[in-house]
Amino acid sequence: MLLFTTLLTLATSIVAFPVPYRPPFTSNFGAQLEWIDCSVNVPAPVQQQFNVTTWNASGLPPLPSTLACGHLTVPLDYSAPISDTNNITLGFAMHRPGNATQLLNFNPGGPGLEAASFAWGIALNSSSSAMFDGVLDQDFLAVDVRGVGQSNPLNCSLVAAAEIPIALPTDQASFSAYQTSVATFAQSCITGSSPPGIVQHVGTEEVAQDWNTLMNALNYTKMNFLGVSYGTFQAAEYASRFPESVGNFVLDAVLSHATVDQIAVADQITAVNRLVLRADDFCQSDPSCPFKDQGNGSVPEAFTKVIQMAENGSFSDLNVTATLAKFALYYTVNSSPDFPKFNLALSQALNGNATLLVPDP
Ligand SMILES: *[C@@H]1O[C@H](CO)[C@@H](O)[C@H](O)[C@H]1NC(C)=O
Ligand SMILES: *[C@@H]1O[C@H](CO)[C@@H](O)[C@H](O)[C@H]1NC(C)=O
Ligand SMILES: *[C@@H]1O[C@H](CO)[C@@H](O)[C@H](O)[C@H]1NC(C)=O
Ligand SMILES: *[C@@H]1O[C@H](CO)[C@@H](O)[C@H](O)[C@H]1NC(C)=O
Ligand SMILES: *[C@@H]1O[C@H](CO)[C@@H](O)[C@H](O)[C@H]1NC(C)=O
Ligand SMILES: *[C@@H]1O[C@H](CO)[C@@H](O)[C@H](O)[C@H]1NC(C)=O
Ligand SMILES: *[C@@H]1O[C@H](CO)[C@@H](O)[C@H](O)[C@H]1NC(C)=O
Ligand SMILES: *[C@@H]1O[C@H](CO)[C@@H](O)[C@H](O)[C@H]1NC(C)=O
Ligand SMILES: *[C@@H]1O[C@H](CO)[C@@H](O)[C@H](O)[C@H]1NC(C)=O
Ligand SMILES: *[C@@H]1O[C@H](CO)[C@@H](O)[C@H](O)[C@H]1NC(C)=O
Ligand SMILES: *[C@@H]1O[C@H](CO)[C@@H](O)[C@H](O)[C@H]1NC(C)=O
Repeated sequence: MLLFTTLLTLATSIVAFPVPYRPPFTSNFGAQLEWIDCSVNVPAPVQQQFNVTTWNASGLPPLPSTLACGHLTVPLDYSAPISDTNNITLGFAMHRPGNATQLLNFNPGGPGLEAASFAWGIALNSSSSAMFDGVLDQDFLAVDVRGVGQSNPLNCSLVAAAEIPIALPTDQASFSAYQTSVATFAQSCITGSSPPGIVQHVGTEEVAQDWNTLMNALNYTKMNFLGVSYGTFQAAEYASRFPESVGNFVLDAVLSHATVDQIAVADQITAVNRLVLRADDFCQSDPSCPFKDQGNGSVPEAFTKVIQMAENGSFSDLNVTATLAKFALYYTVNSSPDFPKFNLALSQALNGNATLLVPDP
């Protein structure tokens, strides 16, 4: 996270994008900005942090005057005028230190992660705000993008989501079943979300337009940007569309506009293979690792054998296929790697106990 601040002071970095240039819109679309009382608009993560459902429950810190909360009403469909049947209200929060001369828009990616709580984190000085040290003299803006959090969240069926198979399709029948379940899930979002038609208007282009509309409403003509993961994709879209409004952009964990699926998948496989080698390395310094005595290379060897066993039906008592075994092992080392558990799962599976290869529901 220190990297952010260092980079921000050092450089402007923008990924290359093959998106054709389109001239920016010049109007503000009749957008309406309204400041609201933060205490009646507490983002879900902040509610959880303080274990409240309403802000004025007891035991809560006072809200500093640097915290600002707002609503921006914009067209649902930007190609038509804003109206009673064509508008959507975006919720956002800001940390405004006073007399700021620059606007910094932060997006944590997802796509679709709630963002407003990051401004609250700064205002309330929570530990997560340390990553913004060095840029807190700017007006810090965190917008829940349309379809998320405070901004007309999509309403999709969790039941339909649970019906989507975890295993990747391997033949025409499983592919068709996969398509059907995904289509059912998508339809549940279309049916359940409001206003009607919102699902057709939650794209990256609209999000970039929303940010520009809000920037204008805040009387800024340029925007700095700190984007993580999918937030970098949105930033690239924004920069391609509004190049004259681009201040300092920091893109962390870039999801490039230029990446093709095959390369993204190949990169992911390389990363996972490397995690298996890291588990192997870890084993050699972990006295409790079941493969320690077998030396370097024993973990990749065990991994290969376990997948073969899954393929030949050795774990059919628990319905663990090779795909499911890979899934479970992947989730053990993804993000915050648990190498001891990974190595234990392999060792137990070699002995016929595939319990740890059953994916969590
Ligand atoms: C949150 O509050 C509820 C009700 O007061 C209580 O039962 C629960 O234990 C609290 N949870 C935490 C994590 O403090
Ligand atoms: C809590 O906040 C609500 C909304 O702002 C207000 O109507 C209510 O009076 C407050 N309750 C207390 C106990 O402060
Ligand atoms: C948005 O739609 C609501 C509900 O139809 C309406 O009350 C409101 O005036 C509209 N806002 C704008 C700016 O058009
Ligand atoms: C903003 O600048 C004015 C004029 O210099 C000063 O009086 C005021 O205290 C500043 N406000 C903040 C919040 O720093
Ligand atoms: C914010 O938290 C840090 C670390 O906990 C502390 O050193 C600092 O004094 C706090 N600042 C404010 C304004 O509370
Ligand atoms: C979400 O969708 C379900 C199913 O269509 C519906 O029953 C429910 O009222 C919706 N919830 C909200 C908050 O719109
Ligand atoms: C933007 O500037 C206009 C004109 O000076 C002013 O009326 C408005 O309050 C400003 N908006 C914000 C959010 O500061
Ligand atoms: C373990 O083996 C791998 C592959 O043969 C090799 O790249 C790696 O350097 C070895 N690690 C150690 C600690 O010997
Ligand atoms: C399944 O594969 C494992 C690992 O290659 C092997 O040891 C085992 O004998 C095979 N079992 C069957 C039933 O083919
Ligand atoms: C394995 O799958 C079969 C068929 O779907 C099911 O009847 C059985 O309960 C499953 N077994 C376990 C342990 O999940
Ligand atoms: C199988 O592995 C699980 C998970 O580690 C463990 O809880 C269970 O006791 C093992 N079963 C046997 C029969 O060893």
